[in-house]
Amino acid sequence: MPETATPPWAALAPNQQETLARHVQILRERLLRTGGAMPFAEFMDMALYDPQIGYYAHETVFGGHGDFVTAPTLSPLFGQCVARQCAQILRETPGVLVEAGGGTGRLAVDMLRTLESLEALPSRYVLIERSARRREEARTLIGRELPDLAGRILVTDTWPAVTASVIVANELLDALPAERFRVHGGQAHPLSVGADDEGLGWRVGAADARLTDDLATAGWPEGYTSEISWNARRWVADAASHVCEGGLLLLVDYGFPATEYYHPQRADGTLMCHFRHHAHSDPLILPGLQDITVHVDFTAMADAGRAAGLALAGYTSQAGFLLSLGIAPRTLDFDRAHREDVAAIKRLTLPHEMGELFKVMALTRGETRPLAGFHLLDRRAALGRR
Ligand SMILES: C[S@@+](CC[C@H](N)C(=O)[O-])C[C@H]1O[C@@H](n2cnc3c(N)ncnc32)[C@H](O)[C@@H]1O
Repeated sequence: MPETATPPWAALAPNQQETLARHVQILRERLLRTGGAMPFAEFMDMALYDPQIGYYAHETVFGGHGDFVTAPTLSPLFGQCVARQCAQILRETPGVLVEAGGGTGRLAVDMLRTLESLEALPSRYVLIERSARRREEARTLIGRELPDLAGRILVTDTWPAVTASVIVANELLDALPAERFRVHGGQAHPLSVGADDEGLGWRVGAADARLTDDLATAGWPEGYTSEISWNARRWVADAASHVCEGGLLLLVDYGFPATEYYHPQRADGTLMCHFRHHAHSDPLILPGLQDITVHVDFTAMADAGRAAGLALAGYTSQAGFLLSLGIAPRTLDFDRAHREDVAAIKRLTLPHEMGELFKVMALTRGETRPLAGFHLLDRRAALGRR
């Protein structure tokens, strides 16, 4: 028999056990007060963002000491490449650069340094972040690392009043609360979360005609379970309304076109939780202590962008995007001097690491020149349409 690794939550420190018990108690009281069950998206919203129990409100989440790494926390090379793509637009359409879901501010620092060296600084850099704790971290990092540019950087939780030349969102869409559903008799039934004797459990709701129609679930296998993110669609539509003429909305995240997302073999969806670098798929066990994410349906994002008046200007893998923007120059020495860079390039671009699962989508308002990040590989044709 293969040995089963003990998951890290089997050995929670006593203070974490207390925190977990308190979170479950708060959720159960809320459930009992509000009729016994909440839609999964509401649960995900609370588990991630509630000021009292939310994961993003409290924990150290990113990097080696947290629960997962994101590309900016791995290496500045990522931000340098994203900045080169932004510079192309900022030179033609000078103005505001918005970074949505900016986390700790790492990407902001790396991008602004590169934009400065390219003489393509935006008039203002607005970092929008929902978590108050992350906003504080971002302000501290920016103040420490970019004192000369701090005056043109705003860290906030709301959209700026002016339109943006560029909006960048790295791993934001996967963190927006999504709906989970199960197919019975060809109809999509939303799943919600209720209070069980021991803790929290799943509830299956009545068939939802809007969901069933949108995904055309007739004929899908019995019990097929997956997710749909109305919030991600709404966010793209909202972001689109903040893009100026000639401007760019750049989305980076893990996900697939709809045909792969809702592939018959992906019968348990894409929901993933991260706790101390351990990935699993049960969002109900560690509410407020673990990250919960869903993959992104990029066909739906393209449709939402087009419906809001943007054009689909590029779609590729993260590897295609970063290699197009010169992440691995010919001058790179594969020796000790560049060892860290080489390791990061591998992590960011190899197909079994982040290179293939992560995708980059560009949506633009009006005509733009071909975008540099998509010149090696453009997979727009793979997205299809609903
Ligand atoms: C997975 S993290 C990614 C952080 C950062 N972009 C990175 O790559 O390291 C997602 C971030 O989005 C933030 N977030 C979630 N919903 C948001 C929203 N509607 N507006 C702005 N930030 C949001 C979360 O608080 C979290 O910091």
